Amino acid sequence: MSDYLYQNTEQYFGQLAGGAQKCGEEELKKLGATRIRAGYLGFYFCADPVTIYNIVYKTRIFSRILAPLLAFDCHSEKYLYKTAQQIDWSDFLTLHKTFAITSNVADSNIRNSQYAGQILKDAIVDQFREKTTQRPNVDTRFPDLMLNLYIHENKARISVDLGGGSLHKRGYRTESVEAPMQETLAATILQLSEWNGERPLYDPFCGSGTILCEAFMKAGNIPAATIRHKFGFLRLPDFDATVWNQIKTKANNETVDIPDGLISGSDISPDAAKAVRANRNNLPELGTIKVRRSDFQSLEGFTNTTIVTNPPYGIRLGDPAEVAGLLKEFGDFLKQKCTGSTAYIYYGEKSLVKKLGLKPEWRHELRAGGLDGVLCKYELY
Ligand SMILES: C[S@@+](CC[C@H](N)C(=O)[O-])C[C@H]1O[C@@H](n2cnc3c(N)ncnc32)[C@H](O)[C@@H]1O
Repeated sequence: MSDYLYQNTEQYFGQLAGGAQKCGEEELKKLGATRIRAGYLGFYFCADPVTIYNIVYKTRIFSRILAPLLAFDCHSEKYLYKTAQQIDWSDFLTLHKTFAITSNVADSNIRNSQYAGQILKDAIVDQFREKTTQRPNVDTRFPDLMLNLYIHENKARISVDLGGGSLHKRGYRTESVEAPMQETLAATILQLSEWNGERPLYDPFCGSGTILCEAFMKAGNIPAATIRHKFGFLRLPDFDATVWNQIKTKANNETVDIPDGLISGSDISPDAAKAVRANRNNLPELGTIKVRRSDFQSLEGFTNTTIVTNPPYGIRLGDPAEVAGLLKEFGDFLKQKCTGSTAYIYYGEKSLVKKLGLKPEWRHELRAGGLDGVLCKYELY
């Protein structure tokens, strides 16, 4: 087999977190995707070879971009094994390259996702063994080739993960304090906040600075995958190094400087400021993020500022009564000291919204990284 499904159709699938659909669709349009159609936790879309590299390099919202190799009806494990062997795996792998498989199975005769992934793995290694008596190794942490197997209602799809792993791992977060949020979630929150870099942005519970770093990337027009080394599309048989280098160079030349004082934050933890600085230093030198150690109670307050933040919540961060008390005090702080500002608060637990004591303009549910939370907007008059 040499014509793979993505080559024939130029169709791909982008996976995202629950609640991020609107932002994901807007982003795909902006990055040049066409024929965008909703699927389960993601979108099918079409893109030419130039556009698809661009999407993988720049997406802030999607966690995976998948290029389907083969789609087929699949009612049994035996058939999965046999059909997976129709792919010539030497198109993607050599004996010296490693691979890994993420798999997801639902409402199908094959019930176990992990087992389905194992069958695909066996099909691949057996094909190599038959030809060479040797096999490529599996590396679940840093594979050269990341594959995805999806089976829903007995319809299977084998895809190459074009990012080579989840795109939320941007690579800048080398230091973290407690309960960091996923980078894609922070980017989605910023997208929903409609912050466009005109007003100062502040995070008073900044932790390791995920919201601040994502704001920095957005303000500086920095491609989200700028410090990523491995991309799954490098393993595609039709990978075009010239086109990829052009896309990357163009995107890297489109960054802009970030004014001093535009992005800042604070946290009560003694380790947070150091972590934010370390993480910021992993990003291109386009400006600064001001960060200090402070209890939010000691802050002087903000006018004409976009406050984007993720306060502590019960599950990961301590006593629910304490968290409720802290949110009530934070609500008073916003009311008394932040008039003329707008706050976007992401609660890791939906039940906490009422503890703030302010009425949100809107709420938007967002699920990611094991959190089933909600983002609320507050205009502070
Ligand atoms: C859910 S974490 C924020 C995580 C952050 N969004 C990230 O991705 O790293 C909440 C943060 O609130 C901080 N915090 C708790 N009480 C605080 C207070 N009274 N004032 C300021 N920060 C506080 C904690 O140290 C913690 O870093």
